Amino acid sequence: MKQGYRNGLVAAAVTALSFAAQADEVVRIGHVAPLTGGIAHLGKDSENGARLAVEEINSSGLLIGGKRVTLQVDSQDDAGDPRTATQVAQKLVDDKAVGVVGHLNSGTSIPASRIYKDAGIVEISQAATNPAYTQQGFKTTYRVVATDAQQGPALAAYAAKTLGVKKVAIVDDSTAYGQGLANEFRKAAETSGMTVVSRDATNDKAVDFRAILTKIKGENPDAILYGGMDATGGPFARQARQLGVRAKILGGDGVCSTDVVKLAGPAADNIVCSEAGMALEKMPGGAAFARKYEARFHQPLQVYAPFSYDAVYIIVDAMKRANSTDAAKVLAVMPSTDYRGVIGETSFTAQGDLKHGAISVFSYKDGKKVLLDVVQM
Ligand code: ALA
Repeated sequence: MKQGYRNGLVAAAVTALSFAAQADEVVRIGHVAPLTGGIAHLGKDSENGARLAVEEINSSGLLIGGKRVTLQVDSQDDAGDPRTATQVAQKLVDDKAVGVVGHLNSGTSIPASRIYKDAGIVEISQAATNPAYTQQGFKTTYRVVATDAQQGPALAAYAAKTLGVKKVAIVDDSTAYGQGLANEFRKAAETSGMTVVSRDATNDKAVDFRAILTKIKGENPDAILYGGMDATGGPFARQARQLGVRAKILGGDGVCSTDVVKLAGPAADNIVCSEAGMALEKMPGGAAFARKYEARFHQPLQVYAPFSYDAVYIIVDAMKRANSTDAAKVLAVMPSTDYRGVIGETSFTAQGDLKHGAISVFSYKDGKKVLLDVVQM
């Protein structure tokens, strides 16, 4: 081959490559959850869901506004801490994320929401259930789970009607989520005729609940509502069993994980908990999603992966409808979202809540999560 001809070929190849590089736009989708600390397993589960969606979308090819778009997960760790949450939110704004899947906790989603609002970037929480999150009047604030204004009453109704609970004690972990769920549960419990015998607070790093549990044992309730996550809820249930507390332990989505079985030990069988969405086995593509997830990550999913997975697809659906990767244009079409995914149909109220949420109630039997009931909203 002549040197000149070869050089010409190389030059043409380089031009083609740089053309492809120019035509290819890399778009960042933010994902935020605690990736360190006691509930890192829940954050990782959520991150896996988002990664699975991005990998699928990239491998099937995405064309927006005539450009080939490659998505990148911009994964941030807020450690479940409100202050860190605002710092990583600012980082995602600086990174020019087109939208954010996050945050996982209400206590982080709420303070971070102001940063996204100021930047005009959509924030879709995969898990935050405190009603206040979407009550701030921000056009950027969405979630793909039901709220504790639905989860609290659903748990209370199940306790009163099915479990026959008459006396209930309430403990929360002093976070926006734990307190909020406890408040909503309390209102509904009193309305449905149960007696709330006590209300106590711990914190989301606590490991020893024996003082509170010993006091509650003396009150002899039929159930204890624990407002918090599995990292504390599991040991709470375990120590209750060790102290001979006979009450059922009621929890929300934060307790309703796969790992709570390890955290609570044999006392997991005494937990009744809810998820703020449709149960995986009742989701349209739930079983297929679980298989895909397990094949890719070699572990069972915890709770939030299907929600963060759909949240990525919802942002991409908005990019397609806006025919743009511009965060402002994506945000502008969010109110008209009507997306059918793994978690079911997602369309939003003017506030950014789900129009059709569901609450699923579970227990654990021999280490396996068992669906008891689904309440459609
Ligand atoms: N539902 C939990 C919260 O809102 C994860 O913090």
